[in-house]
Amino acid sequence: MSSPLRRTVRGMRDLLPEEAEHMRLIEMEAREVARLYGYREVITPLIEHYELLAAKIGEENRKRMYVFEDLGGRRVALRPEFTASIARLVSTKMVAEPKPIRLFSVGSLYRYDEPQFGRYREFWQANYELIGSSRPEADAEILSLSNDLLKKTGLEDYYFKVGHVGVLRGILSEEGVKEAEQNRIMQLLDKKMQDEALNILKKQASERCLETLRRLFKVSGREWSRVIKEMNASVEGYEEASSAVENLEAILNLTSDAKMDLNVRVEAGFARGLEYYTGMIFEVYVPGMDIALGGGGRYDRLIELFGGGPTPASGVALGIDRIMLAVKGRRPGWTPTWEGLRVLVLPVNEEVKGKAMELSSRLREKGVTVEVEVMGRRVSRALSDASRRRVTHVVIIGPKELREGKVVLRDMKNKEQRTVTVDEVADMLEGLQSGSSRISL
Ligand code: HAM
Repeated sequence: MSSPLRRTVRGMRDLLPEEAEHMRLIEMEAREVARLYGYREVITPLIEHYELLAAKIGEENRKRMYVFEDLGGRRVALRPEFTASIARLVSTKMVAEPKPIRLFSVGSLYRYDEPQFGRYREFWQANYELIGSSRPEADAEILSLSNDLLKKTGLEDYYFKVGHVGVLRGILSEEGVKEAEQNRIMQLLDKKMQDEALNILKKQASERCLETLRRLFKVSGREWSRVIKEMNASVEGYEEASSAVENLEAILNLTSDAKMDLNVRVEAGFARGLEYYTGMIFEVYVPGMDIALGGGGRYDRLIELFGGGPTPASGVALGIDRIMLAVKGRRPGWTPTWEGLRVLVLPVNEEVKGKAMELSSRLREKGVTVEVEVMGRRVSRALSDASRRRVTHVVIIGPKELREGKVVLRDMKNKEQRTVTVDEVADMLEGLQSGSSRISL
């Protein structure tokens, strides 16, 4: 094992410039989606009280929290998600805010997951919460904005796995299964351990309940209207579950009416590990990657649990790291490349160093990306290094030309160079800059 001075902590990563650039590009698109849908950003702390974060996160996630005592003796944790912090915020500082409230957050989260492909202990999410509406249009909006963001990142083949917690919980509640026990069952279903879930229920639920669940676990598919019909037939006689299916149908109908063109796969037995969900739930997948790119759903009681009064809400978090992996997997060899202007200002000797720095500043004021030569390299070495680093133009400053107020401008692509005045070079590069495109996805 190498020295701790030379490696990151297990599960933590360094993002090198290209990866960092890619991540920030996805973040930029996420911000753009927030702007387009009217979500305002809030910044909440990375460290919160353990009780807040643990309240409804679910057993599996709770075990994976980074928990510690701070120097003041408080039991705190690194946030494993944004939703609990947003619910705290809405139930305290934003109670008087008119509804709906649309909030966006982006940042790093921490879960002590087993490190593997796409599973990190520090990862990033773009998170959207729509608070105050219990209507299907709110859930449809969450699906729509998730779809828009994924499209913007260049992905095409993703699909939404959709279900409704109210169907399973509705049946279990009518059977008198206590909430703690329901949570245990949801955890098992989240891990696709359906037989184990049924085994637990054998002792406390009716044969009719077990039969209904067995039937539901088989109901899934892409033609959602057929799946909804089968779900309806399966839950007959369970009132709460039936209205949950109706609610899911209303949401999916809206996505069709709005021509969202969502690629949906409805799964009646789908559950998520987070315990606060009360309604429609979903996850996003791409073929060939069995980890979700995003997940979300409706949680109508969390804000109330934190003392905020009855406040329905729906939301989603998209995993930036995993979107990045999916994009890379679909475009092998692709890296975000700088397409814009990149200028090197190169003094030929000590005497004109100051002048080089002065001209660099002048160009930067015009918005041009300028690096100034700092390695004391000779012109030929500096030029070959510049082409290796994708510099588009080099401004060579020599004492002889400078005496006439001139410099040499070299176009690195066609290797042409000409002598121009300092004013001309500034105008020319400014002109090129405004016509050049920045890095894009
Ligand atoms: P989640 O499903 O726990 O939901 O996480 C959302 C997304 O975060 C996942 O789909 C995945 O892309 C990413 N993610 C989770 N864990 C890791 C990990 N260890 N490494 C890399 N990426 C990861 C939530 O967090 C809910 N708060 C979503 C929500 C918002 N529901 C309502 N509002």
